[in-house]
Amino acid sequence: MSMDTRWPPYPALSAEHVQGATLYARRADQIAGLPVPKSGKVAEIGVWRAAFSKVLVDTLKPRQFFAFDIFTGRLEKDWNGMTGHDLFDGLTHRQFYEREMAPYRDVTTIVEGSSSETMRAYTDHSFDLVYVDGNHYCDFVKVDAALGAEMLKNTGFLVFNDYMLIDHNHANYGIVPVVNDMVVNGRGHVVGFALDQNLYCDMPCSGAPLQGLRNRVSSRRDRR
Ligand SMILES: C[S@@+](CC[C@H](N)C(=O)[O-])C[C@H]1O[C@@H](n2cnc3c(N)ncnc32)[C@H](O)[C@@H]1O
Repeated sequence: MSMDTRWPPYPALSAEHVQGATLYARRADQIAGLPVPKSGKVAEIGVWRAAFSKVLVDTLKPRQFFAFDIFTGRLEKDWNGMTGHDLFDGLTHRQFYEREMAPYRDVTTIVEGSSSETMRAYTDHSFDLVYVDGNHYCDFVKVDAALGAEMLKNTGFLVFNDYMLIDHNHANYGIVPVVNDMVVNGRGHVVGFALDQNLYCDMPCSGAPLQGLRNRVSSRRDRR
């Protein structure tokens, strides 16, 4: 168990949790390597400037792609030295995203709002892959993971970006505690790991066993 108060206590993964997992050099290679059927349903939670949305759609060729975001990036004052105005070419965040995704308009549905609310309408076990990359703080990741698991088919994958404890700007990320808890206590399974030049690594988990997670998260919230 971690004793650092910056994160909730969480279990370590063991060999059994990663048995058979495949290592990839890049996250795009991993997406291509997962057994996701073509013409399926795919969601990305947190789409920013569409960089990975394009990879997901080009690679997986879904019949439906759902792009979840709050689309408030235009308000950024200093994002690695850039303003929201510069980041989005003077457009709103959503306008910028729509422009970038115009070639994929036929399959793309934009779902604007906080994912902890908007994902609830999609928890029908119909998705093949949900890519979790929204708000990275623990409480948000926990809800995104729980709702994402409820969106998935039994054969689906929940893929977490940024499996790291602290990012390069020293923010404490909640992905590791949530994923480890989900895998160890929720009987999930890690099916791969994708390296990244800056170690913003991706970890995909098989979805079927994870669906009890929502109950655990809901009951914790109800107790508050
Ligand atoms: C790291 S960026 C996503 C990067 C993108 N997945 C990629 O790889 O190109 C995080 C995104 O999450 C969005 N976001 C932050 N909090 C959110 C929330 N509560 N609900 C939905 N989206 C959120 C931000 O607006 C931002 O676009």
